[in-house]
Amino acid sequence: MTRISVKVDGTAYEDEVEPRLLLIHYLRDRLGLTGTPIGCDTSNCGACTVDLDGESVKSCSVLAVQADGSEVTTVQGLATNGSRHPLQKAFHEQHGLQCGYCTPGMIMAARDLLAENPDPTPDEVRHALEGNLCRCTGYQNIVRAVLAAARQDTPARVPAQEAAL
Ligand code: FES
Ligand code: FES
Repeated sequence: MTRISVKVDGTAYEDEVEPRLLLIHYLRDRLGLTGTPIGCDTSNCGACTVDLDGESVKSCSVLAVQADGSEVTTVQGLATNGSRHPLQKAFHEQHGLQCGYCTPGMIMAARDLLAENPDPTPDEVRHALEGNLCRCTGYQNIVRAVLAAARQDTPARVPAQEAAL
């Protein structure tokens, strides 16, 4: 077992984990943060995407021990004071989801995009989300949702900025 310290959605945790434990299993099974789903076993679907120290990563392709000393944000950590994140609002308003299984990963990948490129073109949105699969929507409304969130003033993912919403 290996001891890790990690901050997840603003809460600090210290845990003993097996070196082979994947970050997604740590989040879901140990911390109970089941808002981040597992959609495949091949690192293909992107449903498990979270933010790890400012980069969106597929948490099924990262070991929990690799997150030692890091800050993780999941889709469950995006709302502030009961208000949904602009991307969460935009996905709702633009009908960017059907079953919703891909949505946490889509939102986390889109958040990473908007932090680096606050005014993306539709093609840039599609390119940024190419690692995230959706089998329901045909992607059109997902792209619309990201563009709608980008048109707002505060889509960035930086925690301090989110806290000011
Ligand atoms: S569950 Fe991680 S990419 Fe599919
Ligand atoms: S909304 Fe069902 S997989 Fe995307």
